[in-house]
Amino acid sequence: MLDALKDELLSLVNAAADLPALDEVRVNALGKKGRITGFMKELGGLSPDERKERGQALNALKDEIAAALDARKADLSAAHLKARLEAERVDVTLPIRPETEGRIHPISQTMDEMIAIFAEMGFAVAEGPDVEDDFHNFTALNFPVGHPARDMHDTFYLPDADDKKMLLRTHTSPVQVRTMLNNKPPIRIVAPGRTYRSDYDMTHTPMFHQIEGLVIDEATNMGHLKGCLVEFCRAFFDVDDLPLRFRPSFFPFTEPSAEVDIGCLRKGGELKLGNYGDWLEILGCGMVHPNVLEACGIDSTKYQGFAFGMGVERVAMLKYGIPDLRTFFEADLRWLKHYGFVPLDIPNIAHGLTR
Ligand code: PHE
Repeated sequence: MLDALKDELLSLVNAAADLPALDEVRVNALGKKGRITGFMKELGGLSPDERKERGQALNALKDEIAAALDARKADLSAAHLKARLEAERVDVTLPIRPETEGRIHPISQTMDEMIAIFAEMGFAVAEGPDVEDDFHNFTALNFPVGHPARDMHDTFYLPDADDKKMLLRTHTSPVQVRTMLNNKPPIRIVAPGRTYRSDYDMTHTPMFHQIEGLVIDEATNMGHLKGCLVEFCRAFFDVDDLPLRFRPSFFPFTEPSAEVDIGCLRKGGELKLGNYGDWLEILGCGMVHPNVLEACGIDSTKYQGFAFGMGVERVAMLKYGIPDLRTFFEADLRWLKHYGFVPLDIPNIAHGLTR
């Protein structure tokens, strides 16, 4: 009698066409009210000898059915996966659709290019928040409280929160502070991101982008700063003999400080980069001030380094011949189609930067 049940259950297992059907078979055989379970419940009414024999037979049947269920389940799962893979197949070798119209914004592309060059030199990418506090944006960067240096930046302040003066960061330099507070030297990072100043005219927008650089270790000097920036500018603008001029300047957080100009030629409303005798300012830099190192918990008698900050829009305009700063943020699709980059044109030193 159990043999008949076994044959019947096995054929049901093998006939189950999918996983839900198979589960139904399992419930009907081994579930609480299943047929094998039902026989198990009757064991109590048998004599000890009968119970032993019948119990063993039922257990063997149960094991056999369970094994058959498992095997069928594995088969059905594999078949299900195979069918799904077939149905969802995509041909990754197909060319991209000609109708894809999306473009990468020149700012994104420019920052990716900069990162690619600095990454090749061993810099990591660091980030910080756009909404900063006074400490990271000013105080730790050696802007004394009440000092006119703070007025160099026309700061957007936020309504006071918890006694903390919050603001939109006026430069990416607070990322220097965050990086030094959270990491031990040696440090070598670049930090691209948005910055904000209350300013709006032909050459200023209230939101713009900078990329910050910071190198801290025991032996870095101004020669390294110079070499790094010369190397960067020549790679970025793709002009091998591009001259750089370092002019003494002032920033509270660097000493000595310099502004860097690149060589150019202004003629008939056009601008050409190279060794032509004219100069164009593109970035600020210097050796990190000991007060900044100390404010960030770094021993200034042991460590030193350099920092720089560059406006992204300015160099993007130069490199790609974009004449008006304000168009960057007008979200005009015709402009983006003209100046934007196709998504797969990812900057990379080995394959070449853009164009
Ligand atoms: N943070 C400065 C600015 O916004 C640029 C800078 C960065 C200068 C790092 C020196 C060192 O003008």
